[in-house]
Amino acid sequence: MSEGIVLEEILDIQEQFQVSPPALMVIFGASGDLANRKLLPALYKLAQQRLLPPNFVILGYARSPLDDAEFRSRARSSMVTNSEVEFQSGAWDAFAPRLYYISGGYDEFEGFERLREKISSLEEQLSVGGNRLYYLSTPPSVYEPIISYLGAAGLVEHESGGEWTRVVIEKPFGSDLASAHKLNDHVLSVFDEDQVYRIDHYLGKETVQNVLVFRFANGIFEPIWNRNYVDNVQITVAESIGVEGRGGYYEKSGALRDMVQNHLLQLVALTAMEPPIAFEAKAVRDQKVNLLQAIRPLQPDEVPDYVVRAQYSAGTAATRPVPAYLEEEGVAPDSTTETYVAWRVEIDNWRWQGVPFYLRTGKALPRKATEISVTFRRAPHLLFDSTDGLDGVPFMGPHPAMSRESLSRNVLTMRIQPDEGITLKTLAKRPGPSVNLTPVNLEFTYGHSFGDPPDAYQRLLLDVVLGDSTLFTRRDEVEIAWQRITQVLEGWHMQESLAANGSGPYRLPNYPAGTWGPSESGDLLAREGQHWIVDRE
Ligand code: NDP
Ligand code: BG6
Repeated sequence: MSEGIVLEEILDIQEQFQVSPPALMVIFGASGDLANRKLLPALYKLAQQRLLPPNFVILGYARSPLDDAEFRSRARSSMVTNSEVEFQSGAWDAFAPRLYYISGGYDEFEGFERLREKISSLEEQLSVGGNRLYYLSTPPSVYEPIISYLGAAGLVEHESGGEWTRVVIEKPFGSDLASAHKLNDHVLSVFDEDQVYRIDHYLGKETVQNVLVFRFANGIFEPIWNRNYVDNVQITVAESIGVEGRGGYYEKSGALRDMVQNHLLQLVALTAMEPPIAFEAKAVRDQKVNLLQAIRPLQPDEVPDYVVRAQYSAGTAATRPVPAYLEEEGVAPDSTTETYVAWRVEIDNWRWQGVPFYLRTGKALPRKATEISVTFRRAPHLLFDSTDGLDGVPFMGPHPAMSRESLSRNVLTMRIQPDEGITLKTLAKRPGPSVNLTPVNLEFTYGHSFGDPPDAYQRLLLDVVLGDSTLFTRRDEVEIAWQRITQVLEGWHMQESLAANGSGPYRLPNYPAGTWGPSESGDLLAREGQHWIVDRE
């Protein structure tokens, strides 16, 4: 094999993953960003690894007037410039003939009739069989009409004779509890729950799945994974980019809906849930739902004590200048949309009672970093008096009370991205005649052991065609997450109304791009003698 992926690598990948059955996948919104930047490259890589059979066909559907050749050419251009794709012309030449395109609206029956005819002709012409997968990669405003017309046009079969029809629905799945509930009702009036794959791409990240493997495949951590040994848990999902042209979408979303409702609460669930009886969809999702239900609900007037929100002003993040959020296209000049959220979550169950889970996410922070840090309680009695600072240097942090305390605690950090890996901070004796303690890291680096992790969409798309919904969210899971988020939104609404009736419009805290967020976020932890771990690295 002269170019690209070598035969041994293909065989190795095929040993780890099952090969997809033949199927026809329709991508709604195929002209868009997600389709071109993530979905088509993931399908290309799966085909390159021979995990998709030759009669796996992709049919793009969108309003843009393209033909097959133009669709293929756009897909090619976006892959050539995509740093995550190792573009190879031979592999592309084998992949491109599987791509087709049909133009149509999302809320017109006529378009779906033409879609049905096109699907039938491709299935027959290319011996695809009857497996169908619909991927909703459009703005959520058209999810409902697409679902309705798929049903009305007779394009949804319930499982028969081993053939299946499935639908993948992108985030955001609703914008609060009521809208998520309504969308679920609508989707489930056309599809059965086991045909529905609500996607959260964080669950497709190798390092996120590794949280469960780390906890439940090793005997030594689970016995100490509880309130008796854990002092606090921090989850940071930091991005250095701003909203980068997505102002129109982001204005209606904000960090709480965009990141916390899905990605962060999923990370909380995986970190804190009870062991499932098996690694399969029902068992894992039952435990995630139990955990999400144990998150303490907040009354509207409690929200300011537990949740901090803020918006970035102009600055420099990761060496790039970032304009203020209010200067982004599509953003209202007086917008109070938050680009940063920090939330002190409490979990009311036997395992976690009294252990704070500090969550935060933000755009335009100093660097990209997704990390889960579990800080353990310090040793019950410190024998070594000389631990008065890092390497004997007095501790210089803003909160002196935390010096010896925090130095003597073990911290286990799971780095989801980048530089994927796991670090356990322990104390060691620095060589020398006196007992001088210094923190050292026990380190596992994903890249050293396994190379670069595959893209999340690759894994998730393969799971859909193989019918494995373990890494997708179930109806009750999405709704309980929205319920907790809606309570925060209600608290913010109350805060804004009170401000309007009193001192004038509510003023959102601000942080300059390139900093770790507003001071209020640090205060949330400092009042309990804590600090954000990632800021110190
Ligand atoms: P786009 O804004 O690029 O929209 C996709 C396509 O939908 C467009 O090419 C356009 O196709 C059509 N479209 C756009 N606006 C409208 C509208 N107002 N009404 C009807 N059709 C419209 O979205 P993305 O590709 O970025 O995202 C698709 C979905 O995936 C969204 O739900 C998004 O939230 C989600 N998502 C996206 C991520 C990303 O990285 N982009 C990450 C995670 C989730 P045409 O005009 O040709 O019909
Ligand atoms: C998406 C959000 O779900 O996740 C984006 O809509 C965000 O705003 C992205 O940038 C982050 O994903 P990742 O995989 O880069 O951490």
